[in-house]
Amino acid sequence: MPKLRVLSGMRPTGKLHLGHLVGALDNWKQLQDEYDCFFFAADWHALTTEYAATEIIRESIQDMMVDWLSVGLSPKKSVLFIQSRIKEHAELHLLLSMITPLPWLERVPTYKEQQQELTTRDLSTYGFLGYPLLQTADIIIYKADKVPVGIDQVPHVELSREIARRFNFYYGPVFPVPDPLLTEIPKLLGIDGRKMSKSYDNAIFISDPPEEVRRKTSAMFTDPNRIKRTDPGNPDICNVFSFHKVYSHPETVDRVNRECRQGTIGCVEDKKQLAETLVAYLAPIQEERARYTRNLKRVEEILEDGCERARRVAAQTMEEVRAAMKI
Ligand code: TRP
Repeated sequence: MPKLRVLSGMRPTGKLHLGHLVGALDNWKQLQDEYDCFFFAADWHALTTEYAATEIIRESIQDMMVDWLSVGLSPKKSVLFIQSRIKEHAELHLLLSMITPLPWLERVPTYKEQQQELTTRDLSTYGFLGYPLLQTADIIIYKADKVPVGIDQVPHVELSREIARRFNFYYGPVFPVPDPLLTEIPKLLGIDGRKMSKSYDNAIFISDPPEEVRRKTSAMFTDPNRIKRTDPGNPDICNVFSFHKVYSHPETVDRVNRECRQGTIGCVEDKKQLAETLVAYLAPIQEERARYTRNLKRVEEILEDGCERARRVAAQTMEEVRAAMKI
């Protein structure tokens, strides 16, 4: 049995943080052993929101690739590449645009939501409306079977299913219909209790040095009803405890749970322990980061090789597409 193909992308819009790790990369890493994996930097997608100041994109691609490699995405197991180097995505996007009814794009929930949320940018562009269609091209050009994404991206995968079917209906069977691969994602909020995000300035970055990790951890919000150290706390509503559940030894999780409820461990002490756990967790990743950062030529070689492998697959699909469409 040939392996099923998995494909996913990430927009390079800044340094990666722990939210990216639990939300995507930890999962991608696991998938590498079971599937034929394609992972890429979606730099054209980043342009839909960063078009007015594009420098951040190129810097972030390199940072992001170094982060991917350092956390264990492996060029031996996966095809790692950059979207804009595979021009075939653009050709397929254009061809698909001919058969995409506008209302299908207008009703994608992220379209209106993001326009309302990102008020500092004008997102009334053709490119932004077409975002999920470009994503469709990314997915089906590799004939991906499974697309690991968070819940917010499921409507985009739904669109790619509808477009794949519509293409096959008009021109004959070329594309498999992809499935979203939803994974249970532990909830890790930023240090202020909002969603972890670079733009909220509340993220713990993979590249943060130990002092920074300690400083940020000590600033984390805990159970707001716990005023004195001896007050019994409620770990269920404490973000620090959520972090423990992801990063600490099960025995520590049990002990902290007990001692917090009894009021025998203070939040300050608790956060100190968490900080040391995070520092220890990040240490080997940062060692790898330093290694790759010293050898960026190697990173570029890995990317060139990945792009080459991606391009071969994409070019083959486009031959089939042109033949099916008789162009
Ligand atoms: N839209 C995705 C995100 O913001 C990134 C992305 C672009 C993607 N193309 C993709 C994800 C194709 C999966 C498959 O997270």
